[in-house]
Amino acid sequence: MKYRNIIVGVTGGIAAYKTCTLVSSLKKQGHTVHVLMSANAQKFVSPLTFQTLSGQKVYTDMFSTDYEPDVHHISLAKEADLFVIAPASADVIAKIANGIADDMLTTTFLASRCEKLLVPAMNTGMLDNPATQRNLEICRNDGIHILESDSGYLACGDTGRGRMPEAEEIEDAIKMYLCTDRPLTGRKILITAGPTRESIDPVRYITNHSSGKMGYALARAARNAGADVTLINGPVALQPLYGVSTVSVESADEMYQAVMNHYEKNDTVIMAAAVADYRPALVNTQKIKKEDGDLSLTLMRTPDILKEVSSHRKAGQTIIGFAMETEDLLNNARKKCIEKNCDYIIANSISEKGAGFQGDTNIVTIISKDATVSLPLLSKDEAAVQILKHCLSGKKGSKC
Ligand code: C5P
Repeated sequence: MKYRNIIVGVTGGIAAYKTCTLVSSLKKQGHTVHVLMSANAQKFVSPLTFQTLSGQKVYTDMFSTDYEPDVHHISLAKEADLFVIAPASADVIAKIANGIADDMLTTTFLASRCEKLLVPAMNTGMLDNPATQRNLEICRNDGIHILESDSGYLACGDTGRGRMPEAEEIEDAIKMYLCTDRPLTGRKILITAGPTRESIDPVRYITNHSSGKMGYALARAARNAGADVTLINGPVALQPLYGVSTVSVESADEMYQAVMNHYEKNDTVIMAAAVADYRPALVNTQKIKKEDGDLSLTLMRTPDILKEVSSHRKAGQTIIGFAMETEDLLNNARKKCIEKNCDYIIANSISEKGAGFQGDTNIVTIISKDATVSLPLLSKDEAAVQILKHCLSGKKGSKC
């Protein structure tokens, strides 16, 4: 991603305090950030705060003579690669839907031809109001992207929809529009992520340590590269990915069903999920009572989803599996690549420092039937980019 020119519009809502973190983070990444504030936004956060965080003059007034002689709303609009309004009040959404340009923020927005993203934040009643919903629909139809509000505690004391997503989530959405290189445009990619959860009774289950971070990193990288991504995830504690169609499941059987429903529509299937190999043969309908002595559970095999997909693969489909082993990783991964008839197996080290479950980094080796390519310790995001580059651009590694 190149450093880009981003306009952040701020309107009058308490969520404006979260926009400070967003502006600071975008600036730290090297982007040029111009902040435009509505009159009411300045009642919540001072322009000086944004000026200090962005290192740029904050524009609040169309007709100020303090600025250099230039038609600012036009020059800012021309230079911008992305215009995001966060928080976007019901009022500014209504203005944008109707092409109203009555201050610096809305006038610059109207003049901009770049990608535009609104992040609505307001009380649930205001958000659910048919007028706001109608205005959001008009904006969508005009090609403006909308990052849906979260649900939760609202500053007015209500609990419901309308909370502005955290800065990290807004930044994730922004990244999708900042990538200039989108080599996977037109590709449809199905990705599985996370663990599965196999019930013993209504209270207990069997699972594993997978966090889903590697699968999510792959989904994010594929989305940013322009692919149409479907993500099937087991139970994870990760924020939803903007622009990715997500199906949440619990058990291996549910994941199997979801994958079977989707894989035919995709040209690439990447199975990063740590699917349970066994599940309790019987799921007790009542909580199993604790008694003296030991308890034995009979476990039965779950379907091997990857093997099933490979054996029914469509012509031209690329199938990528993952392998995590505690012993003889590369040889076991090579065997798995052949047995499961995959194009690639991504071997994950579990014993090396900085690799494996839960963390934000990984050490992977990309194995195909005729080549092995080892990557160094990388962030899971960077490892994901390298995996996609290697497996989906036809590049081959050295013979193993
Ligand atoms: O056989 P093993 O579990 O080591 O293989 C790992 C690969 O197979 C991963 O890509 C995982 O998503 C997939 N898998 C599966 N169904 C299972 C078990 C693993 O699709 N029941």
